[in-house]
Amino acid sequence: MIHYSSYKYKCFPRKDTKEGNGTIEIMKAAILGFGTVGSGAFEALKSSDDVCVKRVLARHPIEGMEEYVTTDMDDILGDSEIDIVAECIGGEHPALDYVKAAMRSGKHVVTPNKNLVSAHYEELMSLAKECGVQFRFTPTAGGGTPWLFNLQRQARCDEIMSVSGIVNGSCNYILDRMQREGAGFDEILADAQKLGYAEKDPSADIRGFDTQRKCVISANTAFGCSIHEEDVPVFGIDKIRSIDIDHFREKGYTCRLMMNASRIEGTDSISAYVEPVLVPPGELAASVPLNNNLIFLTGRNIGTLAFYGQGAGKMPTGTSLAEDMIDIADRSIPTHKAMENHLTVDNTRVFHRYYMRDGDKIRITNNMTVRDAHAFAAKHAGGFFMAGIMEN
Ligand SMILES: NC(=O)c1ccc[n+]([C@@H]2O[C@H](COP(=O)([O-])OP(=O)(O)OC[C@H]3O[C@@H](n4cnc5c(N)ncnc54)[C@H](OP(=O)(O)O)[C@@H]3O)[C@@H](O)[C@H]2O)c1
Repeated sequence: MIHYSSYKYKCFPRKDTKEGNGTIEIMKAAILGFGTVGSGAFEALKSSDDVCVKRVLARHPIEGMEEYVTTDMDDILGDSEIDIVAECIGGEHPALDYVKAAMRSGKHVVTPNKNLVSAHYEELMSLAKECGVQFRFTPTAGGGTPWLFNLQRQARCDEIMSVSGIVNGSCNYILDRMQREGAGFDEILADAQKLGYAEKDPSADIRGFDTQRKCVISANTAFGCSIHEEDVPVFGIDKIRSIDIDHFREKGYTCRLMMNASRIEGTDSISAYVEPVLVPPGELAASVPLNNNLIFLTGRNIGTLAFYGQGAGKMPTGTSLAEDMIDIADRSIPTHKAMENHLTVDNTRVFHRYYMRDGDKIRITNNMTVRDAHAFAAKHAGGFFMAGIMEN
């Protein structure tokens, strides 16, 4: 193992004072995992006066980063100068253990890791509170768009009624090109993988689980609750075929994979689900091109706001994570709402018409509840596809 402890650490960028204000302590951060987002956040912080990177945790030496890299997490946990830990490894393990250890060491934590935040929301929010540290995760939904940040901000003095939208760029890329070019699903998925928009194993994207995680995180942030992945029924786009797209084009619809979570007035419940949606012409969601995201919040006071932008990518996501770190340094920025509302998910009160195809047989249903539609879909494997129909 390489021992880096003999290095005299420099903080990048080396700025210890702000002109005219006397000496100001710059917050020091450690980045765990130096891949796409970790290296993007490192680049973005080069132009920050508030936060600088002191250490990077990696499994191997990184050329040009010798001063920062350690392979030993204890170097970071035991360093009292490090105030913020940015977990960019991804997945649940060892990310969960590292995040918990960082919080217990009194360090604030930021992460773009939606798998971790969605699966361990309650545990991590509670631990952060218990340890008196901040836990921020703006890039977990919307990537580079400041979606969760503004949702948190709006939730301070408004009642959020619903959150919805397109939060998976890979799926939007596939659907948009199928719709505009009439090309086949497999061909476009292969292109998306070549361009780095889709993972080598695309199942979490195309089966809708990535959107489901973002729905959980957005709903919990909006409503101050702690719903779980298993509460949110999901139907993805992996079964969509050219026959479906031809039908949608003929009827003037555009298909989009969307999340939706809404308060049910007068109850302690919300609806929450993920499904392809047939969007009528003229709606904003119909015109979202390629791998972009478009996310809406509706507040009782503010009405509807829309957030549009890049949902992924090294610099969009890395910059969003860097902004979370700077927000921690700037103590006036809002933190996530406490989990004070015990809301349950009830999809029996939301209903719309559905497009359903079983093999080659297409039908449009009458209004049916989201719960019944997803239960029906669960019984039809193989050649079944469905999409909710958005009414004008
Ligand atoms: N990429 C995006 O645009 C984007 C957007 C939004 C959210 N996210 C989320 O951000 C997280 C990171 O994604 P990414 O795209 O940056 O992944 P990535 O490029 O694969 O980076 C992960 C890095 O972590 C390192 N790593 C793995 N295990 C480690 C360990 N035990 N100790 C230290 N380093 C370790 C990997 O290095 P080696 O394997 O080489 O050792 C790799 O450099 C994920 O949760 C992802 O869902 C990504």
